[in-house]
Amino acid sequence: MTPEEFLKAFHDNNPGQQSAGAEANPTAEGRTSYEEFADRVGTPERVLDLGCADGALLEVLAGRGAKTLAGVDLSEAELALARRRPALAKADLRQARAQELPFPDASFDAVVSHMAFMLMTDPERVAAEAARVLVPGGALSLAIGGGAVAAEAMELFLDLARPYFEAAERRMPRLGDRRTRTRDGLDEILSPAGFAPVTWDSIVLDLGGTAEHVWETNFSIFYDVVVLDEDQLAKLRREFLDAAGDGRIACGMRINIATAQLRDAATTTVV
Ligand SMILES: C[S@@+](CC[C@H](N)C(=O)[O-])C[C@H]1O[C@@H](n2cnc3c(N)ncnc32)[C@H](O)[C@@H]1O
Repeated sequence: MTPEEFLKAFHDNNPGQQSAGAEANPTAEGRTSYEEFADRVGTPERVLDLGCADGALLEVLAGRGAKTLAGVDLSEAELALARRRPALAKADLRQARAQELPFPDASFDAVVSHMAFMLMTDPERVAAEAARVLVPGGALSLAIGGGAVAAEAMELFLDLARPYFEAAERRMPRLGDRRTRTRDGLDEILSPAGFAPVTWDSIVLDLGGTAEHVWETNFSIFYDVVVLDEDQLAKLRREFLDAAGDGRIACGMRINIATAQLRDAATTTVV
């Protein structure tokens, strides 16, 4: 199974899970990662979301005055949920690969991607396509997973889960390109497409709560658990809840937000 086949199947089977998890785990100040990300994106008039899923981010951007909204995703089931949002009634939502965008040159002021660019294969091709559809001076903004913070809950989960993952018959394909996780790596990917060096900022989501909450909103949507069957998953859940005990457990996740401006004399040549 290729990474894209895996992602499409996962999201077709679990539409809306990503946004439910993101909305249930805001920052300590109670702001969702969509709101924090939208603050950095500003108020572009025409915006395209790469890997838009059920449209949670596009809805926030619509609320901030974006007039032309578009999104692509691999999963038709996610897009079907996005189409049900009244705020997105006029949005152009298409099942398409970010590597082959079905939009004309220079048609957006901003291209955004929340927790999706880091999963994409051939990110240079995605960067070249983003550069092609952006107007000169337009901006590409990316929210990228930055790893666990206060990692005890994650370590406990992984310690318990590792034997299950190793014994599982199915294997996870490797998703995305590690270079997207660092500032230098992103510049290496984006600069050949004509982008200036990224600006870089980060937020921390508070994923803590009862063991049940942490399981439901974090580990149940961890892509890797799909290699487990229902019995294995139920056993792992029981082991985690027993080991974590009663009371609140700390768990946090960093999200890095990178923005790069398209230089005026943009080139879309991939080297
Ligand atoms: C972790 S989810 C994030 C969804 C959404 N941006 C959010 O944060 O709510 C990643 C999404 O990217 C989509 N995706 C992954 N690779 C893609 C590609 N090459 N082209 C378009 N969509 C892609 C998946 O189908 C999935 O919906």
